[in-house]
Amino acid sequence: MTNPANPSGARPLAARSDGPLTGRLDLPGDKSISHRALLFGALARGRTTITGLLEGEDVLATGRVAAALGAVVERTGPGAWTVDGAGLGTLIEPSSTLDFGNSGTGARLALGVVGGHPITARFDGDASLRKRPMGRVLRPLEQMGASVIADGTGDRLPLTLKGAVPTIPIEYTLPVASAQVKSAVLLAGLNAAGQTVVIEPERTRDHTERMLAWFGAKLDIAERPEGGRIITLHGQPDLVGRPVTVPGDPSSAAFAIVAALIVPGSRVEIANVLMNPSRTGLIQTLLEMGANITISNEREDGGEPVADLTVEHSTLTGVEVPAERAPSMIDEYPILSVAAAFARGDTIMNGLAELRVKESDRLAAVAAGLSANGVALKEETERLTVTGGSGVAGGGVVATHLDHRIAMAFLVLGMASDTPVVVDDATMIATSYPDFEADFTRLGARFEASA
Ligand code: S3P
Repeated sequence: MTNPANPSGARPLAARSDGPLTGRLDLPGDKSISHRALLFGALARGRTTITGLLEGEDVLATGRVAAALGAVVERTGPGAWTVDGAGLGTLIEPSSTLDFGNSGTGARLALGVVGGHPITARFDGDASLRKRPMGRVLRPLEQMGASVIADGTGDRLPLTLKGAVPTIPIEYTLPVASAQVKSAVLLAGLNAAGQTVVIEPERTRDHTERMLAWFGAKLDIAERPEGGRIITLHGQPDLVGRPVTVPGDPSSAAFAIVAALIVPGSRVEIANVLMNPSRTGLIQTLLEMGANITISNEREDGGEPVADLTVEHSTLTGVEVPAERAPSMIDEYPILSVAAAFARGDTIMNGLAELRVKESDRLAAVAAGLSANGVALKEETERLTVTGGSGVAGGGVVATHLDHRIAMAFLVLGMASDTPVVVDDATMIATSYPDFEADFTRLGARFEASA
């Protein structure tokens, strides 16, 4: 979508306060699980049927990559897709560059898939993805026998990866708490004879382990007495296509949860939220801040815990969020910072180094956006302190740096500010939450195109 008034294609958008948010929200599918369903479907024998797939740009890019690697990927209805797998060990070499758009997850998981196969592929993405570090995935893949043979410096896209022949099983301790790195090593290890072991000193989201087991892989998972886990994957499993139900994305629910908390008079019900403990750090933090969030109908669906949430406007108080909680809410700091702007006192967020290498430098983007709207804060290398109060002036223009979550977080800020908040570009929201504006408009939010 190109805006004729703006040849760069950016679409500035404003959100303003316009009464309470009320009603029920059906969430888009979880992004992490959606990527994995398509890629693991490509690695499995037979048919994987997916319901509730997130049809955002990031996931659609991964679907095209799965097809380029030899799977037959078809949309059969809204959120309903089938993947007829190429099969482990029998992926085909893609004939053109694999384009991951804005998606670090898609790129890093696919590096693991290609790295473990005897094929060569060129990886690329948009201006944001080209800035993000890939060495964290490439270093263990090199130990497994893969190599970067062309382009770049070996740490950034674009790059051409030659997969291992044969793939060497390794034991690898994650130097950063990253589910993407863990997943890349495990995915490469699928095609290795023997055991691939990943040690994660801090627990990260475990959708890869859960879904690989569901597709028939054998994994042993041990808790370490000092924290974290040891994951042992037995190589060359018979992966068989399965039905996958994708639950609602807690990282997308986060925007409605915080919006309902900060817009006076609001009451919003959010159905079918993924409640995997490796993803619920934001809810835990908001409850500590005094949020009125009711969790009901807790159940298992498709191997993952899910529940319904009811959120009501609340008086929030600042808290200190421990660094150990960061992996379970890593994508939620921008929107937590918005909640913090409406909480009494200081909210101190620790252990934020990884925020600097997301779709943008999120720590800097959040600090700049809050400052532009009159919120007091202190930005340190790995920590952010937001000093909240009873209201936010608003009126600022926020630079989003090709980052969907910065755009959505600051539109939510605008829903409760004294004057509207403008984000310089709303187009990237389509990467993870294409119906964001429609869903929030239904709940009562007011958006305006901005010049
Ligand atoms: C993801 C892991 C997280 C998260 C990203 C999705 C995943 O990144 O920020 O949005 O699906 O594995 P890291 O694992 O690099 O922290």
